[in-house]
Amino acid sequence: MNKHYPFVNPPLPYSYQALEPYIDEKTMELHHDKHLQTYVDNLNHILEPYPTLQGLSLEELLSCPLCLPSGLQIPIKNNAGGVYNHIFYFSNLTPAPNLPIPDTLSDAITASFGSFDAMKDNLKKTALSVFGSGYVWLVLDKNKTLALMITANQDTPLSSGFCPVLNLDVWEHAYYLKHYNMRKDYIDDWFSVINWNQVNQNYISCMKKIP
Ligand SMILES: [Fe+2]
Repeated sequence: MNKHYPFVNPPLPYSYQALEPYIDEKTMELHHDKHLQTYVDNLNHILEPYPTLQGLSLEELLSCPLCLPSGLQIPIKNNAGGVYNHIFYFSNLTPAPNLPIPDTLSDAITASFGSFDAMKDNLKKTALSVFGSGYVWLVLDKNKTLALMITANQDTPLSSGFCPVLNLDVWEHAYYLKHYNMRKDYIDDWFSVINWNQVNQNYISCMKKIP
């Protein structure tokens, strides 16, 4: 995808039905082709009259909201966030199980949470606690420690200085067609299709970014 305006919706790195039976084909199609596409279109529409902002990447648009014109801060937070969060979510899924988790990430999870199972339990509880629409994130903080955080709506961890390693979309559009109101079942199914090799790469990338 373009790193700056005009942004495009990158194709999924797998087919719509590839994550069956964990995440259904129709959900993936609507989530990618309609929800993400709308955020891409809205963001391009917002940036069209602002040539000085058109060279900025998603990360740059999201990392310093106060650097933006005041009237654009909320629309860009919502729509650039919608683009960034969804591309990140889709990129961390895979139809091909790739356990065990690579040692680099596994060791970091153990150091921060005590064990993988402790991290998983904590993440599930955190995801179930999200009120309304939002995301749960595994992030690297400024001390190079992994932590969990919740963001509302399409907010991202970038504006508060955290480096994203993994995210879980808990907006109802991410699971309602298949899992109805059973967010817990969706979370369990999502754990079955996480691309741990990609998450490990995200962690390594974050370690390099944080001084
Ligand atoms: Fe979503």
